[in-house]
Amino acid sequence: INLIIAIDGPAGCGKSTIAKMIAKKLGYTYIDTGAMYRAVALKLKRENVNPDDLKAVLKVMEDTDIQLKTAENGVKVFLDGEDVSDQIRTEEIGKMASQIARYPQVRKVLVKMQRHLGEKAKNAVIEGRDTGTVIFPDADVKIFLTAKPEVRAERRYKELKEKGLDVSYEEILKQVKERDYLDETRKDSPLKPAEDAVIIDTSNKSIEQVFNEVMEVIKR
Ligand code: C5P
Repeated sequence: INLIIAIDGPAGCGKSTIAKMIAKKLGYTYIDTGAMYRAVALKLKRENVNPDDLKAVLKVMEDTDIQLKTAENGVKVFLDGEDVSDQIRTEEIGKMASQIARYPQVRKVLVKMQRHLGEKAKNAVIEGRDTGTVIFPDADVKIFLTAKPEVRAERRYKELKEKGLDVSYEEILKQVKERDYLDETRKDSPLKPAEDAVIIDTSNKSIEQVFNEVMEVIKR
């Protein structure tokens, strides 16, 4: 049997952390769909392609190979054979990813790949924005994580500070809101919970609390 656990939510709600923990705990394949939008964005940046030029974007995607490989702490992302796992994690690439994610034509290509990955995996935890609504509308478990923008910005701020980066909270809050706007106003698949998703607000909860709540939902 193929069991699919779909975890969706906005930028910074903690879904990657939780999805990785759940996948590890259950021994399921972890599929990070956002990483694929990011990998395309990185390639566009490298090739100096304007993300607003849909035709050029689609052309680049035609000969782009993206692979996700399960690793100790989640997943490694390969772009045309090169490990770009760290390079795709910048704010700039995140923003570009949101820009191209607005095109239905771009989504169509990636959704097909993501569905295929989920079907190939025996059991999978798939994480993103549309995994329970578009990619796997029949997923066995659907979780939608949310958190106030201020809380998500604060988490991101701490994370970057810990990495020794000089960042401003105000700037990060602005970026979080910008990305929310791009994701929520997409025409074909705006970010929203599936009707049968369990919604968990992580604003005032620790990672352990959220993890436990998600595990409870899975056990039901
Ligand atoms: O989750 P992550 O921050 O890595 O995703 C980067 C961007 O890719 C998101 O802001 C969103 O615009 C887009 N995305 C998407 N659908 C997904 C996953 C990510 O549109 N399933």
